[in-house]
Amino acid sequence: MPLERKAAGILQLPYTSMSKDEAIRWARLGLGSFLHVLGDEARELQKEAMEHAGVPIIFGIDAIHGHALNMDATVYPSQLSMASSFDPDMLERVGRATAEEVSADGLHWTFSPVFCLARDIRLGRVDETFGEDKYLSGELGAAMIRGYQGDDLSSDLSILACAKHFIGIGEAAGARDSYDAEITERRMRAELLPPFERAVEAGCRSFMTAYGSIDGEPCTSNAHLLRDILKDELGFDGFAVTDWDNVNYLVKMQYTAGDVKEASLLAIEGGNDMIMTTEEFYSSAIELVREGRLPERLIDEALYRILSAKYDLGLFEKPYKQAPSDRIGAPEHIELNRSVADECVVLLKNDSILPLKGKQKIAIIGNTADDIRCHYGDWTYFTHPSPNPDAAPRRPYVTLLEGLRDRAPSHGHTVSYERGYELYSDKAYIDKAVSAAKCADVIIFACGDLIDRIGETHDCATMELLPSQSAVFSALSELGKPIVTVLIASKPMCIPDIVKGSRAVLTAFNGGMFGGDSLAKAIYGELNPEGKLPISFPYHTGQQPTYYNTLPGWHADRYKDVPREPLFVFGDGLSYTEFSYTGAAFDEKTLTLSVNIKNTGDMAGTEITQVYFRDLVSSVITPVKQLIAFKRTKLQPGEEERIEFKLSERDLSLVNRECRRVTERGEFEIMVGGSSRDTSLTRIRFTL
Ligand code: GLC
Repeated sequence: MPLERKAAGILQLPYTSMSKDEAIRWARLGLGSFLHVLGDEARELQKEAMEHAGVPIIFGIDAIHGHALNMDATVYPSQLSMASSFDPDMLERVGRATAEEVSADGLHWTFSPVFCLARDIRLGRVDETFGEDKYLSGELGAAMIRGYQGDDLSSDLSILACAKHFIGIGEAAGARDSYDAEITERRMRAELLPPFERAVEAGCRSFMTAYGSIDGEPCTSNAHLLRDILKDELGFDGFAVTDWDNVNYLVKMQYTAGDVKEASLLAIEGGNDMIMTTEEFYSSAIELVREGRLPERLIDEALYRILSAKYDLGLFEKPYKQAPSDRIGAPEHIELNRSVADECVVLLKNDSILPLKGKQKIAIIGNTADDIRCHYGDWTYFTHPSPNPDAAPRRPYVTLLEGLRDRAPSHGHTVSYERGYELYSDKAYIDKAVSAAKCADVIIFACGDLIDRIGETHDCATMELLPSQSAVFSALSELGKPIVTVLIASKPMCIPDIVKGSRAVLTAFNGGMFGGDSLAKAIYGELNPEGKLPISFPYHTGQQPTYYNTLPGWHADRYKDVPREPLFVFGDGLSYTEFSYTGAAFDEKTLTLSVNIKNTGDMAGTEITQVYFRDLVSSVITPVKQLIAFKRTKLQPGEEERIEFKLSERDLSLVNRECRRVTERGEFEIMVGGSSRDTSLTRIRFTL
């Protein structure tokens, strides 16, 4: 194969930033991949590639929570929202359904799932993560990969998954997107690598290199990370693709390369196999090989990994492989989405005002309640491949307002609605909101972050509500009427006063097409909330980082000027029924934990039982608790079940000073319950 063909074969270019003629020219040159091209245009480019280069193109796209860049596709809850389900089986079904829709568009590869951990909610991209915990992220992400890739990658319904961003975006200092993470290799291996190890175990066929850097070394050129750890140690046999224009960022943002040619050399030597959207890489790579500075075998090795994935996808035999077009927005996907949204509702506070009962006048205040963009969040046709605020959303979808209006009559309720606020405070809205609320028995206050505050490079220093939202809430609070607050946001927000002034608080983060309906069902008791938080809510932005599995050692163990506990912690989530835990036992020989769980209330419900452990004396400081297992149990009122968790010594391991994962002998503690809160956990000590 000529060197030019090889250099083109490891390059990926954005279809959205070139003319059709230029795209055809690249297709004929043997370009490895396009991203962000849909449907018929993909077929046309594939035809050019097969006729002139004889090697199929692989088409990639960001299908992050459904194939949501396509206006007719199914938009699921965000990854963070779906994490509230603690339901790997459901994530696998979402992955499968999404794969069908991506493939129906003639595409072969999604840049999903995200395995980064959200350790500081100032980061703009928290919504794309599975939250703060490495075990939950690994289990849910691996399930999504199984869904995307299926049992047979060559099937018309299967696509490539992509574990991203490798590695450490969530640990960047100050939660600054793509900034340096001041962590050691030991900490990276202990806290960040485990979910990506699960991705490799799940057979993920591509990894995406993170924009950022660890201890001053850009991930894009970190051969120890990509070659020694990912490919050699973990045995990753897929291909590594850079993130968008990472090669040029080595020159323009991180200043570790003097020009794009140097950067191209660093990126290939660093272990990347495909270069995303750095067009200059093509000529640079050819020159570097011809100058003898870049061994051609490195290009060959990269190309081999890419061609192997294309071969396993079946693209050589079926370059036009495509799922049936009726998969996009298919009725069974819509039904799946409704059940997914039901699992993602988290009830954070309830003093028994919910579910709403009796004849009542309801005032719904807050334009978040009726803005589908807030329900969708990031990575939909409103936001990518370029911002499109005027996109007309396609049905079916149900906003919170629509869900409440639809259900109110059957509960004998009348509903009024006022926008209450815009981006900036507008007294006129407040007055209207207050006058509507005065005539109501119950106020439902909808709030959250707005779409222009989330996503890439949208990190925020403050996590409070917008002033206009807080102003409306203050005015409503003065009426002395019960308030139910619904947070429709991409991530946790610091809302202690809102929580204090509300009789109940619910969230589904960005709940997708039917998140609004599921929240409405929960408010009316047609759904018993079962979600648990995959991420903690700080009491104040300054309390960050606020993740549950903190290390011991902080002398004060709290900031003096805010409560010790976060507002809500990982694993929190209430139900309309009650669950009791009794008879917990741990068999030290088989490492099996068993416990009785009983529904002691009068409503069927699903409890998500969580198992944590602590290594009580360890050679390095280890977290006060770590999640190592969880299980969903659906119980009728009065029903009891004994559930078991079979653990392994590896579950109890740590990464020692020599950067080796080991399980040390000594005293341990196992904890089991319905939240990571100490008050929710039964503890059993044992010796290993
Ligand atoms: C973006 C994101 C990455 C995405 C890629 C392609 O900058 O960082 O997550 O998959 O570019 O759109």
